[in-house]
Amino acid sequence: MNGSNKTVFSIFGGTGDLTHRKLLPALFDLFVLEEITVSNFQLLIIGRREYTSDIYREQARVSIEKYARFNKKKELYDQFLAIMTYVQVDYTTLDDYVKLKEAIQTQGCRHLFYLAVAPSSFSTITTNLKLSKIVDDSCEKQLLIEKPFGDDLASAIQINDEIKQVFDEEEIYRIDHYLAKEMIINILTIRFSNQVFKSLWNKESIENIQISITEQVGVGDRGGYYDTSGALKDMFQSHLIQMLTYVLMDEPKSMSPQDIHHAQEKVIDYLELADTEHFSDSFVRGQYLANKDSSGYLEENRIHPESETETFVAMEIRSNNTSLEGIPIYVRTGKRMEKQETVVAITFKHPEGFMAKNAPQNVLVIRVGPDEGIYFKVNIKRPGNYDEIQSVTMDFCQSCIYENRLNTPQAYERLLMMALRNDRTLFTSWKMARQSWELTEEIQKRSQIANIPLTNYLAYTQGPIKAWEILQKNGHEWYTEDIFMNQ
Ligand SMILES: NC(=O)c1ccc[n+]([C@@H]2O[C@H](COP(=O)([O-])OP(=O)(O)OC[C@H]3O[C@@H](n4cnc5c(N)ncnc54)[C@H](OP(=O)(O)O)[C@@H]3O)[C@@H](O)[C@H]2O)c1
Repeated sequence: MNGSNKTVFSIFGGTGDLTHRKLLPALFDLFVLEEITVSNFQLLIIGRREYTSDIYREQARVSIEKYARFNKKKELYDQFLAIMTYVQVDYTTLDDYVKLKEAIQTQGCRHLFYLAVAPSSFSTITTNLKLSKIVDDSCEKQLLIEKPFGDDLASAIQINDEIKQVFDEEEIYRIDHYLAKEMIINILTIRFSNQVFKSLWNKESIENIQISITEQVGVGDRGGYYDTSGALKDMFQSHLIQMLTYVLMDEPKSMSPQDIHHAQEKVIDYLELADTEHFSDSFVRGQYLANKDSSGYLEENRIHPESETETFVAMEIRSNNTSLEGIPIYVRTGKRMEKQETVVAITFKHPEGFMAKNAPQNVLVIRVGPDEGIYFKVNIKRPGNYDEIQSVTMDFCQSCIYENRLNTPQAYERLLMMALRNDRTLFTSWKMARQSWELTEEIQKRSQIANIPLTNYLAYTQGPIKAWEILQKNGHEWYTEDIFMNQ
């Protein structure tokens, strides 16, 4: 073992899209911020292609220039590129790991392995890392893996059992990059650092909660994968459930990873679906049809022409045993929707008392993306008129103020920095991953029993009309900025 005490960061899938668009730019930004330096960090890029390190570095330069937030710091490019070495390895071939072992162990004794590859390859790689004795108990080790954690509950359990043969739970960092988004982390700050929201975040004051992740993009070149997955597994099982945990959790004892994870796990444990008899009133699945600007889902590349895969889901769900017990929580996500938008909207109840009947409801909107910020609708007296109430917004646009988002670390930059600091707060525990699959499979089961049909919607619209009916039965409607702005 070499005496050098560097962190050796090895990326399997180093020639892939995720590495070029997210990981290399994030690592460069951390280099600019001096979180990683020439003396404390070594980057090993692993791929099958016949590259030299110099060829790879030139490609990395292009990606950094295109995607890094500090891409103007060109004077640092060469120093950063010098910390990376390309190692040609077929990760299914044990003999190839000899080269990797030499490259890793000559550099340092803290080893991070990032698996930017399909989940079906996770255990092949971890097993080979063990068999080749690249990982053993003599050096510190960490494993970073990307969602999806399996294709279903059974495969998630199998993958987890296999990687646990080599890495302990505390060494595994499961990435759902949504949790590292600026405004999602901000949900906890908004909730727990403001007495006004902290004291009102309960079933007595909140009427309903909505979380929407709507995308304008279609399936693009991910058709092969997406057609076996769909909106429920691709978005609800991961991002939407993670967002729900932050919106619904009771105040954790502290911000430690253990306390935050415990609070998140409790939320998922107590999420309650409508029973099968009423499931069709609370769950909608849809698929987009062509309109003049877009092909329909069935015409996209690598989609089965008779596919029944949903590109949209909406549902009503309730929470048990938290301070928000029983209030309607609506979630939806879809592709080829009218707007690209991730928002959380909290609608408060009508006030009691003599002014109640004319007073519009207070609404807190947390804009997660693409615009970041919050706004809160409050009531005031219309000027010059003493009995008319006017709803106005207190609006903070974070992304407008921090020009070019230079001050807003991107999700992968934050995740890599936290992993380097051994902080697991923003990563998904195995319990959460398992609970999310259990809930998702329960939804699929109830959807089948209740015979929920696939409902079509035109591309670039607000999704199936039926998704509005879920809310209408309770006298609610989906948050859209226009509705509230016109009140
Ligand atoms: N792309 C994203 O934005 C994104 C976001 C979230 C999650 N993910 C997940 O991250 C994973 C990777 O995604 P990606 O888009 O980067 O995929 P990709 O562009 O297809 O890259 C796959 C990578 O795996 C490598 N690879 C495949 N078989 C190999 C083998 N036998 N030995 C060595 N290397 C091998 C490829 O190396 P060669 O090219 O050298 O063969 C390539 O670097 C997927 O599970 C995806 O679902 C991706």
